[in-house]
Amino acid sequence: MAAAPSLFKFLLVLLASAVKALDKVPANETFRYVNQGEYGEFINEYDATYRTTLIGTSPFQLMWYNTTPGAYFVALRMGTSRSESVRRWVWEANRGRPVGENATLTFGTDGNLVIAEADGTVAWSTGTANKGVVGLRVLPNGNIVLYDKKDRFLWQSFDHPTDTLMIGQSLPVGGAKKLISRKSISDGSPGPYTLVMGTDSPILYVDASPKPLPYFRYDPDMGYSKTNGRVTFQYNAPDNVSYELTLNGRILTVTKYDSVLSFLRLEPDGDLVIYTYDDRVDYQAWEKTFTLFTPVNFLSACYKPARCGSLGVCDNEMCVGCPTEKGLLGWSASCAPPQRGSCKVGANHKYFKVDGVENFLARYTTALNATGVDDCRRRCSADCKCLGFLFWEEASKCWLAPVLGTLDKVSNPKHVLYIKSK
Ligand SMILES: *[C@@H]1O[C@H](CO)[C@@H](O)[C@H](O)[C@H]1NC(C)=O
Ligand SMILES: *[C@@H]1O[C@H](CO)[C@@H](O)[C@H](O)[C@H]1NC(C)=O
Ligand SMILES: *[C@@H]1O[C@H](CO)[C@@H](O)[C@H](O)[C@H]1NC(C)=O
Ligand SMILES: *[C@@H]1O[C@H](CO)[C@@H](O)[C@H](O)[C@H]1NC(C)=O
Repeated sequence: MAAAPSLFKFLLVLLASAVKALDKVPANETFRYVNQGEYGEFINEYDATYRTTLIGTSPFQLMWYNTTPGAYFVALRMGTSRSESVRRWVWEANRGRPVGENATLTFGTDGNLVIAEADGTVAWSTGTANKGVVGLRVLPNGNIVLYDKKDRFLWQSFDHPTDTLMIGQSLPVGGAKKLISRKSISDGSPGPYTLVMGTDSPILYVDASPKPLPYFRYDPDMGYSKTNGRVTFQYNAPDNVSYELTLNGRILTVTKYDSVLSFLRLEPDGDLVIYTYDDRVDYQAWEKTFTLFTPVNFLSACYKPARCGSLGVCDNEMCVGCPTEKGLLGWSASCAPPQRGSCKVGANHKYFKVDGVENFLARYTTALNATGVDDCRRRCSADCKCLGFLFWEEASKCWLAPVLGTLDKVSNPKHVLYIKSK
C-alpha cells in the first residue's frame, strides 16, 4: 500500500505548516531574569528587599521582592525611581507560592510567562504557551498584558486581582473574582478579608466558619451601577478642577489635584483605602485620599471586625476595655475570648454579659427570631462554633457569633452580648 505513507507525509507537511503559521514572540522581545545578586537600595512598602528587572512603564516596574528570607515573589511596584518616597506593591504574580534564590522569570518565544524554581519546577505561569502571544507590555495604568498580532489581550494582570484595584480595573458582579487582603504587612499570602461586588453594592466580608460574614456594604441607593456586569475603579476629571475616584458612578473621593495615579486597596486590617501618587513631587509623593472606616464617612474604626484584635470594647475610635468574667478590664492586644476546653454540644455553658455593645453581625446579618434570651442562649450552647451571642432585649433579636472581635459601644443598654465562658 503506497497510499498510506504518502497520506502520512501529506499530513506531516500540513502539520508543519500549521505550526509555522502560529505566531511567536520575536527573539529580541523574550527575556529571562534570574533571582540573584545585589538588592536594590530604595525604600519599599512592607520593608521589602527587591531585585529589579527592566520590565515596566513609569511609574510601574516588575520586580522580585521578599519580606521573609528566601521567599520571593514577582510583583509590580509603583513609584518613580527618582522619587524619595516609598514605592508600593500593587500586584503580585505568584501570590502565596514563594520561590527561592536563583528562581527564574522567563518569557519565551512560545508566549508563556513563567516563574520557576532554580531546579526548573514551575511555580506560576500565565498558561499562554502557543496561543498566539507576540509580546508583553506594561500599560501606563499598571495592567501587564500579553497581546497577539492584532493587539488583542490574551492575558492581563487586571483579570487576576490580588488586594488592589488600579484605575480601569474591574471586578465582575457576583464574586467570581474578588480582592483578598494580605495576611499581614510581612505576610502577603491571602488573609481574612475580601471585597466582592454584590448585586446592589460592594460588600466586605471577614472569614468565619461556616461562611464569610459581611462587615460592610454600601447603601444600595447610593448610586452604585454596573456596566456589562462589572464594577470598575475609575478616574474622572470633568472640568480639570476636581478629580473624582469612583466605583462606576459612586464617588469614593474627590481630590484637589490630578489623581490618575491612584489605587484602591483592601488593607491587611480590613479597611478599604485609596493611595494617590503625585509624580510631580519627589518627597512624600503618596497621600491616602480615601479611608472607608473613618468618621468623615459616617463610619468608625470601631466597625472594623479586628480593630481591637480578637476581643475588645471600642469607643470613639479607641479600644477602651476588655470584657472578662470579673468585669471590664483595661484593653491590651492580648484581650481574647475565654479559653474553653473541648466543646460538648448542649452542655450547660456559662456566659458573662457585656451591656451596651454591638459588633458587625448586628449591622449586616439578619437576626434569628428567638422567643427570648434563654432560647438564644440554648441555640448558642448547641453550637460549638458559637463564641457568644448578641441579644437585643427590646426586640428579642438574636445573633450567634462565631467571631466576637471589636465590640462597638452603643448608647442603648439593652443591646447586650453574652460571652461563652465554660
Ligand atoms: C525587536 O525587533 C523589532 C524589529 O527589528 C523592533 O521593532 C523592536 O523594537 C525590537 N524590540 C526590542 C525590545 O528591542
Ligand atoms: C545561585 O547560583 C549561583 C551561580 O549562578 C551559585 O553560585 C549560588 O550558590 C546559587 N545560590 C543558591 C542559593 O543556590
Ligand atoms: C482638561 O485638560 C486636558 C489636558 O490638559 C485638556 O485636553 C482638556 O481640554 C481640558 N478640559 C477642560 C474642560 O478644560
Ligand atoms: C422573623 O420574624 C419576622 C416577623 O415575625 C419574619 O418576617 C422573619 O422572616 C423572621 N425571620 C427569620 C429569620 O425567621
